[in-house]
Amino acid sequence: MARKKLNIGLFGFGCVGNGLYEVLHKTPTMHATIHKICVKDRQKKRPISMEHFTFRPEDILDDPNINVVVELIDDSEAAFHIVSAALSRKKAVVSANKKMLAERFGELLDLQKKNKVPLLYEAATCASIPVIRNLEEYYNNDLLESIEGIVNGSTNYILTKTIAENLSYQQALQQAQALGFAESNPTLDTAGWDAKYKLIVLLLHAFGIVTLPQDIFHFGIERIGEPEIKYAKEKGLKIKLVAHAYRNEAGKIVAFVAPQFVNSHNRLFGVDEVFNGVVAKTAFADQQFFVGKGAGAYPTASAVLSDISALSYDYKYEYRKMQMPTTLEADENIVLPVYFRHQNKDTENIKRYFLTIDELFSTPKYAYTNGSITLQNLKKLMVQPLTEWSFLIRDEHV
Ligand SMILES: NC(=O)c1ccc[n+]([C@@H]2O[C@H](COP(=O)([O-])OP(=O)(O)OC[C@H]3O[C@@H](n4cnc5c(N)ncnc54)[C@H](OP(=O)(O)O)[C@@H]3O)[C@@H](O)[C@H]2O)c1
Repeated sequence: MARKKLNIGLFGFGCVGNGLYEVLHKTPTMHATIHKICVKDRQKKRPISMEHFTFRPEDILDDPNINVVVELIDDSEAAFHIVSAALSRKKAVVSANKKMLAERFGELLDLQKKNKVPLLYEAATCASIPVIRNLEEYYNNDLLESIEGIVNGSTNYILTKTIAENLSYQQALQQAQALGFAESNPTLDTAGWDAKYKLIVLLLHAFGIVTLPQDIFHFGIERIGEPEIKYAKEKGLKIKLVAHAYRNEAGKIVAFVAPQFVNSHNRLFGVDEVFNGVVAKTAFADQQFFVGKGAGAYPTASAVLSDISALSYDYKYEYRKMQMPTTLEADENIVLPVYFRHQNKDTENIKRYFLTIDELFSTPKYAYTNGSITLQNLKKLMVQPLTEWSFLIRDEHV
C-alpha cells in the first residue's frame, strides 16, 4: 500500500513540539514534513529560523496544503478549539493532550465520525508505551479483565527520588520540571489529575467506556508524609501512584487513581523514575506487562511520530468496544483495601467508616487503620474535619 505524503501543521514548540521536530528530521524514511508551526509567545527566542513560525492558527487551519494537524500545546481549551476546527476542515489530527481528551471525548468522537477523519493520541497516555494501539487492536478478542498502571512519569520520578534518594519533595519536583517531565501546572501531576485523564483515555480503549473527570475518583501524592515513607521502608514496599480499571464480579468496571503501597510481587514494583508501566490481565493470556518512558521530549515525540506514520497508511481507531454495554460500578459497591493515617484522637470516629479492620496501631501523634472501606465511605471520611490525614491503597498481590 502506497504511503500518503503528509504535510504537517504543528501547534506548540515546547518540550514535545521541539522534540518532534528533531525526531522527524532524524527519521528520513517518514513521508512527512512540517509545513508551519503555530506558537503563542511573540517574544520567545526559537531554536530554528522564525520563517517556520506563525502566531495565527488560521495560517495552518485554512491552508489546503496541510493535511495533518499535530497539536502539542499546553492549554486544553485552546487545544479543543484547534482540534475541532482541524477535524471540521477534514484534516487528520494527532494530539498528546489527555486533559482535552478526557474533558471533551464525546464531542471529539462525534467530530471524527461526522467528518470521517481520524484523531490519534498515542502520546497522551504513557508517552512512549504503545498502550492505546495495543488495547485497540490486540486486546479486541481475549476478554480484558483489568489494567493497572503507573501512568504519570512526573509523580513516579518524585516518589522515586524522595523515597529512594531522600530528596525533598520540592527538590524532586524541581528536577522533574527541569527535565521536562512535569506538566506546566505541576498540580495536574501531583494531585493525580493527569493520571485520571489518562485513565479516562484508557477506559475508552480498554472497555469502551466514555466518561468524564468528575465521574472518576482520584487522589494524588500530596498527602504522603514521613510516616508513609517510614512505613514503606520498614515493610520493604514502594509507593506509587496507580491507575486502576478492572471488571468486577458483577461485570461492571471499577476505575480510580490513588497512591498505593506496592509490594515486590507486583510488576509495578520495579517501575521507577520517569518510567511508566501497565499490567494488562486477560481471561486467557493472564498478565502482560508494558514498560517504557512516560514523559520527556523524545519518548513523547516518538509516540507522536508513530501516530503520524500510522496516518500515512490511513490508520484510525475503530472504537469497537463501545458497542459492548459496559458501565462503571457505583461507589457504594467498590470496596478498597486501605491504610489510613490520622490524628490519634480521631480513632473511634474513623473506625465507623470501615467495613473491616485488619490492623490498628498508634504512636503518640497518629493512629493508623488498615482495613477495607467502600469508596463511598472513603469519600465521606475525606471531607471530615480531620487534620494531617493520609491514605494509600494496600497492595494485595501475593
Ligand atoms: N512533556 C511531556 O513529557 C509530555 C508527555 C506526554 C504528553 N504531553 C502533552 O504534550 C502537550 C505539550 O506539552 P509540552 O510539555 O511540550 O508543553 P510546553 O513545553 O509547555 O510547550 C507548550 C507549547 O504550546 C504553545 N502554546 C500554548 N498555547 C498555545 C496556543 N493557544 N496557540 C499556539 N501555541 C500555544 C507554547 O507556545 P510558546 O512557545 O509561544 O510559549 C509552547 O510552545 C501537552 O498536552 C502535554 O500534556 C507532554
